[in-house]
Amino acid sequence: MPTHWYNIVADMVNKPLPPLHPGTKQPVGPADLAPLFPMELIKQEVTTERWIEIPEEVYDIYRMWRPTPLYRAYNLEKFLDTPAKIYYKYEGGSPAGSHKTNTAVPQAYYNYKEGVKKISTETGAGQWGSALAFATQLFGIQLQVYMVKVSYEQKPYRKFMMNTWGAEVIPSPSPFTDAGRQILAGDPESTGSLGIAISEAVEIAAKDPNTKYALGSVLNHVLLHQTIIGLESLKQLEKAGDYPDIVIGCFGGGSNFAGISFPFLRFNLTEGKKTRVIAVEPASCPKLTRGTFQYDFGDVVGMTPLLPMYTLGHEFKPAAIHAGGLRYHGAGSIVSQLLKDKIIEAQSVPQLETFKAGVDFARVEGIIPAPESNHAIAVAIREALICKVEGKSKNILFNLSGNGLIDLAAYDQYLSGNLTDIDISDAEIAKTVSKLEKLI
Ligand SMILES: Cc1ncc(COP(=O)(O)O)c(C=O)c1O
Repeated sequence: MPTHWYNIVADMVNKPLPPLHPGTKQPVGPADLAPLFPMELIKQEVTTERWIEIPEEVYDIYRMWRPTPLYRAYNLEKFLDTPAKIYYKYEGGSPAGSHKTNTAVPQAYYNYKEGVKKISTETGAGQWGSALAFATQLFGIQLQVYMVKVSYEQKPYRKFMMNTWGAEVIPSPSPFTDAGRQILAGDPESTGSLGIAISEAVEIAAKDPNTKYALGSVLNHVLLHQTIIGLESLKQLEKAGDYPDIVIGCFGGGSNFAGISFPFLRFNLTEGKKTRVIAVEPASCPKLTRGTFQYDFGDVVGMTPLLPMYTLGHEFKPAAIHAGGLRYHGAGSIVSQLLKDKIIEAQSVPQLETFKAGVDFARVEGIIPAPESNHAIAVAIREALICKVEGKSKNILFNLSGNGLIDLAAYDQYLSGNLTDIDISDAEIAKTVSKLEKLI
């Protein structure tokens, strides 16, 4: 297991633009972030050091399920009749079932070291909330989770996981915060969104000096913690005598994508290697492929600092697709800068293609993937089929970010023909993007 996380900012020629204070439009400093995050995480958020040591206590907890396996997908290769070699890194074997524990544990740890007793957070379908519930209880920290209401009602099993690990789970929008009340006043039937739930969780932490906030994606320190995925993959591929031509990750805010790809991008940036790196998003939430690069809020109500990002506008309401973790209007600053500089690529995939990929994968490789991860599989399959047409063998690596055992109702809907693709028009995107103040 690697002993350090890799910070790609050290090797970027164009560093990400700084977050801005929404009032003054000036870069925010550590003091502005201190009500929300412990100082060690704020330092990681802004550092340009290349390597950050993994604390011993975190390392010991990682060892419960790390290193995670890297598989060669021989059966999928055979099924596709492709000359490509397909490898996948499997993060679904963590206690909570996804890559989210890789950052949940260090985030809980740094809060614990600073004496924090309570954390608030948001969760979509519950992957992040359950990972953080697992991590906070290890350090004796109380956790309050604002869970997007539609998931809270339709997908209760992750709520039960969070409760089992001792967390309190509140459906969002809730009547307990100004943000929640504001949304409910405008739409009493609101089924919530990740952006609304972030507003609620941030408000709780901002108003209570004894509560900090934690985010499961987007921010630099979250991406940093996830690089353990790619660092392990690098070593494992070395043992197999291979190096990837293409690296693929699904994309919500960018953390598992960054995790699998940054340790390989390092060699593109510093040694002239030419690995293609592809971020995959849902066709119905296409910030990378159809959004705009602009400063925007991370939440719906506008409580967070302004971040430079590819965005559909913070008021964009993502359609109710089953990949709950990818239903987010924006992207992290680092990945946005890399995309702007054409150092990475992006593709979008419609929902039905992602589920077909997931089912095909499950039937030959055995593991039932999370609906989010199906996006990465779909593009791995697209690329493997291009290799077949071209008669070329390439090494394809993708991240299988989580298992889908709590998402089986989505598979049931797919298998019974009740899932559809959701198109969004340019006009819909323009409606929320045009409201953004042009700061770049
Ligand atoms: C299994 C899984 N994969 C991917 C994601 C997307 O998040 P990120 O872009 O931070 O990896 C999520 C988010 O909840 C998830 O649960």
